[in-house]
Formats: sequence, structure tokens, C-alpha cells
Amino acid sequence: MTVLVTGFTGTVGYEVAQSLKKNGIPFKCAVRDMEKSRNRFGDDYDFVHLDFANPATFAPALERVDQLFLIYPPGDKLQFDVFLKEAKKMGIQHITYLSVKDVQFLPFIHHYKNEKLIKRQSISYTFIRAGYFMQNLNNFLCVEIKEYNRIYVPAGKGKTSFVDVRDLADVIALSFLYPKEHENKAYTITGGEALDFGEVAEKMSGLLGRPIYYSNPTAKDFKKYMLSRKLDKAFINIVVGIHFPTKLGLAKGISSDFQKLTGKKPRKIKQYIEDYRNAWE
Ligand SMILES: NC(=O)c1ccc[n+]([C@@H]2O[C@H](COP(=O)([O-])OP(=O)(O)OC[C@H]3O[C@@H](n4cnc5c(N)ncnc54)[C@H](OP(=O)(O)O)[C@@H]3O)[C@@H](O)[C@H]2O)c1
Repeated sequence: MTVLVTGFTGTVGYEVAQSLKKNGIPFKCAVRDMEKSRNRFGDDYDFVHLDFANPATFAPALERVDQLFLIYPPGDKLQFDVFLKEAKKMGIQHITYLSVKDVQFLPFIHHYKNEKLIKRQSISYTFIRAGYFMQNLNNFLCVEIKEYNRIYVPAGKGKTSFVDVRDLADVIALSFLYPKEHENKAYTITGGEALDFGEVAEKMSGLLGRPIYYSNPTAKDFKKYMLSRKLDKAFINIVVGIHFPTKLGLAKGISSDFQKLTGKKPRKIKQYIEDYRNAWE
């Protein structure tokens, strides 16, 4: 059994690869730029070329793999439906798809449509409906924390169900170890507590030993400022969109699926901040 890990160079794909390695599950890493990936990650990984916008890469990437860890990256011109049909043709036996918490109430987002597309292929699937990644703090929120000691995001005072991506990766590995057990299931994976960004800032201040504050900009101010930082407009809109449900108080739901599936308690934000502290120093 070999798993193809899509999005390997990204936040979740990389952690999924680490979890598969830990569990002794053979895998290949799908990347857009083979040379860059070899330079960055070394020769320990088995890279294959895959670009969701280029159907010529689909069949070769799916050769000699049985299972698929699938993410839907940001971007347009992605031929996801064509990729899924090719996966069916190439005999993929199980897909674990990274989706988003509450997707069933969000018919206007890609994940809603993608879950339906996957079901239509009649391939065994597991949907991982993930809460808000703790790792956003060391990704797109990192610069503002590091340079200006502030969490700069338009999320109001709403709470969100932070999850550590390493916990997602552990559940994803289980779905490949025991695909029959997790066949055609959807899991909501969150951490154990919902927090607002003011509370996160407080925890960061205590653990990093310097004051970090939450500046709670309006969506309009956020967009204006991020444009002045020359960030991509489409990306800025995605970030605003992600935080809008939080602002409305709709992102705070907690699920016990992680504990039920792994028998462990999910990682707390305190542990995450301690483990990633170098990112903000
Ligand atoms: N952030 C959150 O809080 C959150 C919560 C729940 C769900 N999600 C979902 O998580 C997914 C993103 O996962 P992530 O954060 O791990 O991703 P990420 O860190 O943004 O990385 C994106 C990955 O996709 C690859 N990629 C981009 N365009 C591609 C293409 N055309 N063909 C093939 N690969 C391509 C990138 O590879 P390159 O190196 O080639 O660019 C990279 O490996 C999204 O679907 C999002 O909705 C996010």
C-alpha cells in the first residue's frame, strides 16, 4: 500500500508525511517543482510531479499508488474533477480529503463541492473536516507577530476551535492504516477548547515573555493594510473570508472525534506555542 501525499510542501501535507513515516506507511510526495523540493527537503523523499492545473501530470503521479491524501490548494484553473476521474481510472482505493469544519452548512465553498465530487467517484473516502489551524500563527499571521507583536486578523471577539495540524496528521495516518474502518466517514477534528484571538495573544505573551496583543482590525482596514504590504488580493480575501464566521460567533464548536479516534487528548495551544516559539523570535 502506498499513499500519494498532495500538498507535501504545505502545512498539512508535510505533517501527514511525517506521520506516515512514523507509522511505517510507504508514501510518495506530489510536488509542483521537483528540483526545488529536492533542494529543500533532501533525497529522503520519493517525489513525483503533480500540478492540479495540468492534467498531463495526473496519470503519471497516480502510478503505483493505492491511496491518496488530497488537499485542495488555493488557486484557480485547478482541474480537480478531472484529477478525481483519473484517480478512479488508475484504481485508487481510498482518498482521505482535507476539508473544513462545518462544510455541510457552507454550500458556497470549494470543499462542499469537492466532497460531493469525491463521493460521486465511488472510491472509499474519509473526510477530515478541520478546525482553524494553530499553525496559521506561524504561517500567514507570523510576520505581524514577529515584527510588531500583534495578532492582526479581522476576527472580532469570536472564538474559534483551534487545532494543531500535527493532530490532524495523526488522524489522517490512521485513515490509511485502517481504511476499511474509516471508509466513507466524515470526522470533525478540532482542539479541546475554543479561544478568541485576545486569549491567544495573552497565552503567547506569557510563554514568549513579551507582550503580544490582538489588534482586531475591521475587514476594511485589514484589506487596506495588507494591500499596502503588497499581499495578493485574492489571498487577502480568503483570509477575510476564513475569519468572518469567527466574527459572527459561528466557529466555536468543539468536536470529540480526535479523542474518540486516537484515544488521546488533542494538543493544547500552550504546547503548540512552546514547540513553535522559534518562529516568532
Ligand atoms: N488554514 C486553516 O485554518 C484551514 C482550516 C481548515 C481547512 N483548511 C484547508 O487546508 C487546505 C490548505 O492546506 P495547507 O494549509 O496545508 O496548504 P498550504 O500550506 O497553503 O500549501 C498549499 C500546498 O498546495 C500545493 N499546491 C498549490 N497549488 C498547487 C497545484 N496547482 N497543484 C498541486 N499542488 C499545489 C503547494 O505546493 P507548492 O509548493 O508547489 O506551492 C503546497 O504544497 C485548504 O484547502 C484549506 O481550505 C485550512
